[in-house]
Parts: sequence; C-alpha cells; structure tokens
Amino acid sequence: MSDKTDVKKFQVPQEEIEKQKEFTALANSVLTAKYPDRTPLAMVHTYGCQGNVSDGERIKGMLEKCGYGFTDDVNEADLVLYNTCAIREHAEDRIYGNVGALKNIKKEKPDMIIALCGCMMQQEKVSEKIKKSYPYVNLVFGTHVIHKLPELLYNVLSKSKRVFSSPESDGVIAENVPVRRDGNIKGWLPIMYGCNNFCSYCIVPYVRGRERSREPEDIIKEAKELIAAGCKDITLLGQNVNSYGKTLDRDINFAKLLKMINDLPGDFIIRFMTSHPKDCTEELLDTMAQCEKVARHFHLPFQSGNNRVLKEMNRGYTKEKYLSLVEYARKVMPDISLTSDIIVGFPGETYEEFKDTLDLVEKAKFTSLYTFIFSSRDGTKAAKMPDPVSREEKGKWFKELCDLQESIAGKRTALMKGKSYRVLCEGYAKEGIYNGRTGGNVMIEFPDTDGGKSIGKFCTVKVTEPLTWIVRGELEE
Ligand code: 5AD
Ligand code: SF4
Repeated sequence: MSDKTDVKKFQVPQEEIEKQKEFTALANSVLTAKYPDRTPLAMVHTYGCQGNVSDGERIKGMLEKCGYGFTDDVNEADLVLYNTCAIREHAEDRIYGNVGALKNIKKEKPDMIIALCGCMMQQEKVSEKIKKSYPYVNLVFGTHVIHKLPELLYNVLSKSKRVFSSPESDGVIAENVPVRRDGNIKGWLPIMYGCNNFCSYCIVPYVRGRERSREPEDIIKEAKELIAAGCKDITLLGQNVNSYGKTLDRDINFAKLLKMINDLPGDFIIRFMTSHPKDCTEELLDTMAQCEKVARHFHLPFQSGNNRVLKEMNRGYTKEKYLSLVEYARKVMPDISLTSDIIVGFPGETYEEFKDTLDLVEKAKFTSLYTFIFSSRDGTKAAKMPDPVSREEKGKWFKELCDLQESIAGKRTALMKGKSYRVLCEGYAKEGIYNGRTGGNVMIEFPDTDGGKSIGKFCTVKVTEPLTWIVRGELEE
C-alpha cells in the first residue's frame, strides 16, 4: 500500500454520517414508542486501553442521541453494551465470563438488548462463537463500523433480529460522530487509529486496521472544543503517535502537531500515548522540551531489553538505541518522568535474556511500569513460536521484575518529599481527600482544605509523605 496516495480512502463520507443521523431519529422514535413513560437506560462498559475508552465516549454519544440515558446498574439497564479488549487472553476470558453472567438477567428481562463491540468482536472466530454459544446476545459489531451504531441498533430494535457486523477492512476515520465525554476535566483526543507495526506478539494490527492519521484541522477543532468545555488535561491518543502524519499528504509530523496544540490559548496540560521507540526522534524530544504545556511524562514501551528478543518481536530498535533515547530525553528534560511496558516470557526467551530486561530497568529508572506475561494471540506470528518456558517459571521472572521496579519507584518517590508540584485536582480519592497527578504522572492525594474549590483547577501541592506508587501531600496557598 502506498500510504500517501490513499489519504482519503479512510475517511467516511459525510453523507454516511448524515445517513446515520436519520437512523438515529428512527431509533429514537422506536424507543419513544417502546418506553412512552420513561427514558430507556443504557449501561456501557469499556474494557482495555484509552483508545477503547475514547470509542466508548463516541458510542455513548450516539446512544444518547438515539434517546438513551445511562446507568451503571445492570439490573436497571434496557441496553447493556460491552466494548471489549483482545490484547491478552485474560481480558477475553473476563469478558466471556461477564457476558455469561448476563444470561440470567436476560431471562428475567427478555426485552433487554445485549450488544458487544470492540477489538474482540473484530475477530471472526469470536463473533462466530458468540453467534453459536451466546444466543441471547442481540448485536455484535467490530471496530470498523462503530459510526454505524444507530443503523445497527435500529435494525435490532425494529426487526427483532440478531445483528452481526464485523466486516474486514483496513479501517476508517469517521469525523463528526456525536461524543458524550465521561468528564470535563480530562479529555481523550484520538489523533490516529490502527497500527502498521505488526510486533509479532500483538493482535492490535489485526483488529484495528491500518495506521491512519486524522487531519490536523479535525484534531485542532476537537482540541478547541475540549478546552472551551473546561478540559484541563488532554491526552492525544494513537497506537504509535510518533508516526503521526505518515498517511497524510502534507508537511506534518507528531512534533509539529504537538506544537500546534501547545500554541492553542488556554491553561491546560497535554499528554500523549503511545510512543514507539523506533519512531521517536530527537526533534520530538526537543519539541516536548520547548512546549510548556506538554507534561514532563514520556510513556515509551520497550517490551524487552534483549536484542535477540527485540528482533523476534519485530520492534525495530536495540537496547542501546532505547537507552540513548532515554539519555537524550533526560538531557533536554532533566525532570522527565519515564514509564514503559514490558512483556515477560516472550516465546523462546531465556532467563539470561530476561536479565537484559532487568538491566535496562535498572539503568532507565522508570517512574512506573506496566508489566505483562506473554499471552499467545491467535493469528500473530509469536503464537506459532515454540514457547518452552513454563508459566510458573515466567511468574518467577515477573515477580523479580516487579520487585526491582518497586525498589526503584520507592527511591524515586522518596526524592519528591518536601518538593512542590503543580497538580491538576481531578476530584476525590475518598471523602475529604483530593486526588490528582503530577505532570510526571505520579498520583498524589491531599486533604481538601478549601471545600471543593480546587476541583478542576491547577494547584500547588507539597509532598509530605511519599509512598511507593502514590504520594501524599498538602495544598499550598
Ligand atoms: N501478551 C502480553 N502483553 C502484550 N501486550 C501486547 N500484546 C501482548 C501479548 N500478546 C502488551 C505490550 C503493549 C501493551 C499495551 O500490552 O506491552 O505495549
Ligand atoms: Fe501492537 Fe506493536 Fe502496534 Fe503497539 S506498535 S499496537 S505493540 S503492533
């Protein structure tokens, strides 16, 4: 595929979005007739990453326009929608368990609609399994047709038929889909979708389609809407934000986009995820350093510290290249907080090789880590590789890694004692105790001494008690 010649191929035509508005009105009238005395309620539950959370906000936006209100109580719900994740087997097992648990509720409430969407449902094998073994599920749709939810829902409501729609596709970009945000202090802003990297363990490129970037104007428009609505913490989302712009036929890359958003008026902080080391440039790190609104936090997954394993993973960089990026990032931003993802027990990995991961963790001094034991995903290259090390053995390595990171994190947070940080107060951790995050993404809790006035505002908090993963502090004047 020549990336640049296909710029428009991903865009859903606006006529299609208009057509969905008509289905929204139709679904709305069916629902009004069905529930003349009350607002029907939807329970939408999203699993997995922030990309899914952002999809969930669009799903809720469409459902709201169709006439639904929202509830967290499954017993109250007229529609239950699970927005699923396929990244590891454990995630899928949980979802099967939760869908199984709906069977009895549906027996009591046969009118309740059960809908499943997201990455798991983009896999044909899964959708077939739901069709056969979970006959009480009404609607299944994949990641490429989310914008068609009004039409799919209308078909379920009006024809009383089960609807399955997970077409194979390179993916789409659907602009101007309604969105109902989960809160107004923090906002998710997708800048691109899909992934072309095909890391050998990863299911994402198969269920999310090819990499495709939104036009910068669409992103800026949404950023302005978020800021106008009071959003103070914007997270730019993509599987590999460092390759932003590659599918656009114009002079733009992630560093330039970051600068454009940084230049928007308003008091807000910009975060982004996820970055891929192979596409991380010094230009990006320099830009981060120059942009005063960009958080001093960099999530840069390295997955393994061993060069043979990295090659087998198809990651496209070495341990040395990764450490040189860390060094450069610290040179231009001495206060940068680094976090990362690691996979333990990739097929064929030996303990000697795993020790290179420990060594990298020791050297890079991360603030926190997201650590995973390898999970075999059907259809990926790694799923076919011999995997001789037992789960039990991998569990021991995993614990060794967690113990090491715990001691590093403890030492890092200890250094925060007595220092003051600019923190966005996000709400309450518990009664009377605010919570927020430092720019470096460390959770911070501090007593409410101003009767709730700080919520949604930036405040200065002095760290009094560093714990390992969070710190406690107090509000300063
Ligand atoms: N097994 C274990 N962890 C995985 N990840 C992705 N695929 C797998 C898998 N098959 C992890 C990677 C990625 C994070 C989102 O999930 O570390 O960065
Ligand atoms: Fe998966 Fe690699 Fe793409 Fe991340 S970059 S989504 S790990 S294939």
